[in-house]
Formats: sequence, structure tokens, C-alpha cells
Amino acid sequence: MNIKDLYIDFFLEKDHKLINSASIIPENDPTSLFNTAGMQPLIPYLMGENHPLGTRLVNYQKCFRTNDLDSIGDPTHHTFFEMLGNWSLGDYFKKESISWSFEFLTKRLNIPIQQLAVTVFKGNDFVEPDDESANIWMSLGMPRERIAYLSEEDNWWGPAGESGPCGPDTEIFYWVGKEKAPIIFNPEDNRWVEIWNNVFMEYNKKPDGTFIPLEKKNVDTGMGVERITAVLEGVDDNYKTSIWKEVIEAIERISQKPYNEENYKAMRIIADHIRAVVIILGDYANIVPSNIDQGYILRRLIRRSIRYSRVLGIDINSDFGIELAQIIIDKYKKYYPELEVNRNQIINVLTSEKNKFSKTIEKALKEFEKIINTIESDTIDAALAFKLYDTYGFPIELTMEMAEEHDLKVDVEGYLKKFKEHQEKSRAGAIQKFRGGLSSHGEMDTKYHTATHLLNAALKEVLGEHVHQKGSNITPERMRFDFSHDAKMTPEEIKKTEDLVNQYINGCYEVTKTEMTKDEALSIGAEAMFIDKYSDIVNVYQIGKVSKELCGGPHVKNTNELGHFKIIKEEASSAGVRRIKAILE
Ligand code: ALA
Repeated sequence: MNIKDLYIDFFLEKDHKLINSASIIPENDPTSLFNTAGMQPLIPYLMGENHPLGTRLVNYQKCFRTNDLDSIGDPTHHTFFEMLGNWSLGDYFKKESISWSFEFLTKRLNIPIQQLAVTVFKGNDFVEPDDESANIWMSLGMPRERIAYLSEEDNWWGPAGESGPCGPDTEIFYWVGKEKAPIIFNPEDNRWVEIWNNVFMEYNKKPDGTFIPLEKKNVDTGMGVERITAVLEGVDDNYKTSIWKEVIEAIERISQKPYNEENYKAMRIIADHIRAVVIILGDYANIVPSNIDQGYILRRLIRRSIRYSRVLGIDINSDFGIELAQIIIDKYKKYYPELEVNRNQIINVLTSEKNKFSKTIEKALKEFEKIINTIESDTIDAALAFKLYDTYGFPIELTMEMAEEHDLKVDVEGYLKKFKEHQEKSRAGAIQKFRGGLSSHGEMDTKYHTATHLLNAALKEVLGEHVHQKGSNITPERMRFDFSHDAKMTPEEIKKTEDLVNQYINGCYEVTKTEMTKDEALSIGAEAMFIDKYSDIVNVYQIGKVSKELCGGPHVKNTNELGHFKIIKEEASSAGVRRIKAILE
């Protein structure tokens, strides 16, 4: 049985409710490009909102991390991955959480306790050492020598951004060494692999750095599907698990090359990237390749997979990507039915991107031929190798491949040095972006969030009922709102929309929340961005008679809290989608 099914079944037995995997794009928390952890779509509820399905939740969540795109190609990293999680929203706490994790691992997955070890939080100036968790572990039979107390660097989770819910955690490790597991747990030994993280969320970190105890204590756990599968199947390369079997076999067949040391990297990159592309394209969010945000990441993944196929000698004009995509859709559609719904869209977009890009890459290859005909030495030096990467996106492997075909050497070491410098610079930028990113649900975020509902309603009024929200992004300074409409708005339409939103604000409408079934919500005409992804019971926010929307919140209580609304810019976002930038002043 699949690990996802085993996990869900187990927690359903413990009275949890299954929530659907949210879109891979954060919806009500529109601050980072992708969901990076199972808890992210649940932030409002972890902060105290009531969840319509109750206080015990379980799911598998589509997650995507771009922070180490360059590690893709090693045995354990992925851009897209799935995270299993179970949550207590002010319900059970450490005792049940730890006992159930232990029961699941030892009774359902039949992992012998001898293979397990755990870490707990050793305490700091704010928070006591987590003896409670250690004692619970010992009561379950975990020897004292297998419990390590570590600092906040290891045993404190969150907040996911600068502020938000966080707390100490206990992490569970599995011994993957060939030898018998040592009696004493040394967390530094990398043959102990972390498989599960149980976070005891007791605090809200405020933007000023202080920690306020949450009114209700939560449990947030996370277990990566890829890693636990590798551990259970006894392999040290995630791509050798049953998860990847068909995909890697197909790449071997198409390239006529074996999955071995020489080809590991290219094959892993192709497998990882095509899977991620399928998941993003298949999502309800309707992301398409573009030059900004998620669309840009998507485009990069498609292009990188094509370049690496060239490294393997695959014909870049062939339909290898489509073949892999079909395998991946078939494999995942049971868990993400949207993949079947969007199968044609996935294939069409992949095909047209490939057609466009293979032309570009052919041009680049010709350029490459020209350049190497002009170099006098027998070596492509570091500067040229880096230029090929920087201007044409040639990964070093592709340059090496091409060089070999021309009996040239490449200064790989020099290239890697340059590459590293470049990477450090862009990483610093990325970290900054992330910091500015994840929402803290501060006062301004909440106001902007309510303003998106008003703007949505006003646009419908001004432009027509065809307007629907396509996305939004909020920072404490401004809001961005994408909506379906296929013409540039006229200055009059913009003015009318702005005035209407301000009229709503000044109308002092109350914002109320009602729980109802999805069908009821639809029957009263509530707006919803990704209707299919909602659970059966939903929250509908109504703003006077102005707006009804399915949403996770949070919102202000009365529109008069918003101040004055001003549209700064109206522009194209993608085909048939316009974007408005606006502020509250
Ligand atoms: N949110 C926790 C994690 O990502 C469970 O590890």
C-alpha cells in the first residue's frame, strides 16, 4: 500500500479529517511563490481561526521549493515534493502527537525501535528544555541514549517567514547505515536520517522579534514522502525508489543510456523537473510559462530539462518530455485528480514551450560552434564556459559534451568557482525576497486581504460578470490582483472601479463569516478561486451585500477600517489576464 494511504488511514482512525491538498500556489497567503510546507495553507487556522473541518486534520500537500534549485541532481533533493502532515488546532498536544507518530512508525510501517532516535529542544532564554517530550519518548520505550537535546538551530521550527506561528519540535531519525545502529545516538552522523518533524506550535513570533504565546497550542507535523519512501525501501537514492521507477526507466529507454554514475545528474534533473512541471501546469491555479513569478520558474524548469536531455544525447525535438509527462500524470492522478482534468493543457503547453525553445537552443548551439572555431587554445576557459551558461543557459555538462565532440577541454574547476560566486550573490537576493515574503497576517495584510474582495466585486460591477480572480499577492505595503479580462482598462473604468471600492469602504459594511457546504456556497453565488480544491465544508466571507467569497481569511470586521483605496497601475499579466496594483492609504 502507498505510504500516503497508510498515513491518511492511520490518522483518520485517530479522528482526523482529511483536507484536500491546497493548490501549490499560496492562495490566501499570497506572499511566497509556492507552498513550501504542508502547514502553509493552514496558517490562518494555526493563528486561531476556526477550521470548518474541526481541530484534527491530516493531508498530503503539494510543496515546491526553489531555494536549492542547484542541488537538484543529487540523490535526495527535489523541487516538487509531497509532505504528509497531521495537525492539532488547539486539540491534542505532545503526548498524543508523539505516541501516534511512534505507533505509526513501529506498528504500521513496522520499523523496529532499534532503528529510531529522536531529538528534542534543549531550551533557551525564553523556553524551558522540552523534558516533557523526552519523557513521553522514554515512556514509549525510547532509550535515554537515543534522545538528543539540541538548540533552536535544530529543534525550533518556524516561523515560515519573519513572523507567525512557531515552536519547539521533536524530530525523528532513522538509521540507514549498513552496520547495526549504535546504542548512542549521534545526531552528527549522517547515517541517521531525519524522517518526521513534530512541531509544538506554542508561540506567535511578532515582527518586532518578541514571542507571544498562542491562545491555543497546535501540533504541526511534516514527513516528506520521498524521503520516507527511500528509507522504507532501503535505498540511498530517492530516484531508485518505486516513486521514480517508471520515470527513470523511461529516460533510460529514450536515451539508450543506463542510470549510472555518468548519467545520474542529468537523469535526475530531467525526472525532477518534468514532474514539477506536470504538477504546476496541472494545478487549478492555471499557471503558464511566462517571464515573471511562478510562470518564470515553470519556464526555467522546462528549459533546463530540455538542455539536460541534450546532455544525454536525446533529440531535443522529440516528444520525450510528453512521454514522461504522461507517465507522471498516470502515476499521480489518483491523488491529484486535477492532473487528469488538465491533461491536455499540460501536454499542449509542454509541446509549445518545447517547440519554441528547441529553436532557441539550436541557435545557441550554432553560436557555440562559431565561438569555438575562434578560440585558439585547446581549452574552453572558465570565462567562456560561464558566459555560455550566463547568456545561453548552457549547463556545464552541456558545454563539456559539446567540447568533447570538438576534442576540446573545459576548465571546469575555474567555471565552478565563478558559478559559486554567482550563486552566492543570487542566493543573498533570494533570501531577501523570501524574508519580505511569507505573510505574518499583520494588520496591513488583513486589510489588503479584505480589499481584494472589494476590488473583485467592483471589477465585476464595472467590467462585467466574466471577471474572476486569477491570483493575488499582498505585502504590508501594497496589493496586486490578477483577474480575467481581455482588454486594457480605460482611465474611466479604472476611476469608476476605484471610486466604487471607496464607496464600499465608506459604506461601513460588516464582514461576516459563515460555514456552509461547498454546494450551498455555490448555490448562493459565492466567488471561489479554485473551487475544486476546497473541502466539503467551507468558510464564506460576506461583505454587506457587496461580496461573497470562499476564503480562509483573515479579514477586518468592518470595511471602514480600510482607509482610502487607490489604484496605482493596471497592466497585462498574461493572455486574458489583467493585473491591478493598488494601495490603501
Ligand atoms: N512545518 C514543519 C516542517 O516543515 C512540520 O518540517
